[in-house]
Amino acid sequence: MTNFTITTDAPWVNGLQVLETMTPAFRNNLGPAEGVEGLMSKYNIRQLYQDPVTTRRIDHVRADPGYVDLTCAYHDSVEECLVIGGSVTLDGEGLMETGDYFWRPPGFVHCAWSENGFEAILMMEGISPTDGSGPVSRVVHPHEIAGSNPVNTIEEDALGPRGWVRHQPSGLLPWAPVPEDAWPHGGSLQARTLSLNVNTGAASRLVRATTSLELPASVSNRERFIIVLEGVIDISDQTSVPAIGLLHVPAGQELNAMQITAGTKVMLKTGPIL
Ligand SMILES: [Fe+2]
Repeated sequence: MTNFTITTDAPWVNGLQVLETMTPAFRNNLGPAEGVEGLMSKYNIRQLYQDPVTTRRIDHVRADPGYVDLTCAYHDSVEECLVIGGSVTLDGEGLMETGDYFWRPPGFVHCAWSENGFEAILMMEGISPTDGSGPVSRVVHPHEIAGSNPVNTIEEDALGPRGWVRHQPSGLLPWAPVPEDAWPHGGSLQARTLSLNVNTGAASRLVRATTSLELPASVSNRERFIIVLEGVIDISDQTSVPAIGLLHVPAGQELNAMQITAGTKVMLKTGPIL
């Protein structure tokens, strides 16, 4: 059975329109009301995925030069990000540049500013008990406690099953075979593991094709999100997926055969085995 979704044509949305896509628990806690319009005028997204039940969202984000969060905050959800252009400073965490990745468990206070602007794949995990993630929300906290976790002060408990991948330059990670239970591919794809759930094997990886190849149709018992970062994936009987487009394949569903050109690079997010 084939039942997957392709998102290639998500429009850019700017400013106050972005607020409409946010959960009330997020948009109502951005900071002083008089500053919100100015803040959002520098914030642009393409919504690649949103789950109204779990509140999971995956956005292609561009923040303009001079973007500064109005307040520091924590989220009840895991926040995950791969910077794909420019740079952004996260208070309490460091300077994130192109290729840098983070997986932040819930509760850690942070805020962002960017002198020159940045582009990123920004992901809120939403409700996921196995990854220790709650609903997408924003809870304001003072600047002074950035980098700490007022929700759970017992550090090991606060970290959850993937730990806190605080600031990982992806270029420093080794390439390894993509596990066949994540994406059956006959050994032709390589991956850098960005974060890994030690209990369930759910993971976020960067995947590359070193040669042009044709992959047969595949089924995985893990949910798959495939976000094309560079190059293009041609899907049999379907459309092409260029950067930045998203494929979502529920657990147990078949993904069509696909042609991948050499140099194509994707982010692969896989869920727990159901
Ligand atoms: Fe955040």
